[in-house]
Amino acid sequence: MSQPRNVVVIGAGPAGYVCAIRLAQLGQKVTVIEKEALGGTCLNVGCIPSKALIAAGALLHKVQNAQAMGITAKDVSLDVGQLVEWKQGIVGKLTGGVGGLLKNHGATVIYGTASITSKTSVEVTSSEGKQTLNCDDIVIATGSEPIEIPGFAFDEDNVWSSTGALRPDSIPKHLVVIGGGYIGLEMGMMYRRLGSEVTVLEASPRVLPGQDEDCVKIIQRSLKKSKTKVMTETFAKSWKKDAGGLVVTVEKNGKTETVTCDQILSTVGRKPYSAGLGLEKLGLELNRGFVSTNKKMQTSIPNIYAVGDIAGQPMLAHKGSKEGLIAAAVIAGQNDEYDAKCVPAVIFTAPEMASVGLTVEQAEEQGLKTRVGQFPFAASGRAMSLMETEGFIKIVADAKTDEVLGVHMVGPEVTELIAEAALAIEMGATTEDIARTIHAHPTLPEVMMEAAESVHNMAVHIFQKK
Ligand code: NAI
Repeated sequence: MSQPRNVVVIGAGPAGYVCAIRLAQLGQKVTVIEKEALGGTCLNVGCIPSKALIAAGALLHKVQNAQAMGITAKDVSLDVGQLVEWKQGIVGKLTGGVGGLLKNHGATVIYGTASITSKTSVEVTSSEGKQTLNCDDIVIATGSEPIEIPGFAFDEDNVWSSTGALRPDSIPKHLVVIGGGYIGLEMGMMYRRLGSEVTVLEASPRVLPGQDEDCVKIIQRSLKKSKTKVMTETFAKSWKKDAGGLVVTVEKNGKTETVTCDQILSTVGRKPYSAGLGLEKLGLELNRGFVSTNKKMQTSIPNIYAVGDIAGQPMLAHKGSKEGLIAAAVIAGQNDEYDAKCVPAVIFTAPEMASVGLTVEQAEEQGLKTRVGQFPFAASGRAMSLMETEGFIKIVADAKTDEVLGVHMVGPEVTELIAEAALAIEMGATTEDIARTIHAHPTLPEVMMEAAESVHNMAVHIFQKK
């Protein structure tokens, strides 16, 4: 067996810590440097805490809207302090779990800020001073940070970043959300369910730009139904405090107007985080701030790897973890590379949205002829029994080969249902493969089977004209 390699992983988010654990499993010597908390943005101030709050909003909504089932809940109240404590408990358990896993695998964790001083050395500054670590390989997994727009510096008091929005002292009366993307809509819809009046300001002509248009229409309808105000083609310009609250000045079609609220949340995207790492001095090839890599996750200096948000779009935890596994395998001498056909995306709006693979437009841009099938949750007995019949599953298939190219979903539990679609695309499945697979009844995945049938106008539980 070859000598274990000595690897420094910078950043302990879902890309870095997964990479470190896999390196240890493969017999390598690993040191992880983390400047804040194990688990990174995802576990501490991103995916996990937001989904906890969103689950609470969904439960409250369900309890308050179950009259059709004969359930009337009186005096339902929300204790914000308890909610935040519960959410923080989940974060604590998971980050503690990551710490335990790293320790049990024999990885060393150093809390401090890393700077890459040469191809084989990293300087760590911590409360105990500076130390230099010499190593064979370096993995950069430093993630990303929220973008600030002029006039809306995050003070986490009047102007929240997504981090501030996850630890409210109270539920805002009127929340203005700048940016109708992933975070803006997830948080905006969650606060609406917890009782806030919500206004979303979106620069583009529609919310969730880039997502499947038919899916977004369902979200737009839901926003309208919940009386969430959405101002599109609107740019937030500035804000000031006056006796009435926070007055946000916006520009729409060249005209200026104001919106008064008591809380602002700015979610206009994220950017790669590499402050203080010394990447320029090192001469690493960058692309708009992201570190360029090949499929083995190697940067322009082959023994330095980059994984996760810092290595490029899509900035999603599961894509980062996959890259972390690849980098670890390559460092351990395995012939591996990142060759995923698709990365599923899930958005915890109400209803949820999820997609994987190509939209019709993207497939046609690639010169492919498509056939599309769609099946509504309204025709699913399971969806009816859950009282969540909004939405559909849409399958985009190659008209020539019947291969599944993309699946787009909006509706109940679609963030779970998308897993079958991702597997189908990875395995090169056809819509016939999905249609011929027996799906248990009565379950939501039957909607996927019927959507596959509907590609050839053969869905049984809706009438399709030939
Ligand atoms: P985003 O890119 O999804 O959305 C930002 C939105 O802000 C866009 O719609 C953009 O048009 C709009 N915008 C930009 N400048 C504006 C301005 N001055 N005024 C008004 N609107 C403006 O970014 P977001 O929501 O901050 O999320 C960042 C990333 O975090 C996502 O791209 C995603 O990768 C990740 N994320 C993933 C989640 C998930 O997987 N469920 C949940 C939340 C975030």
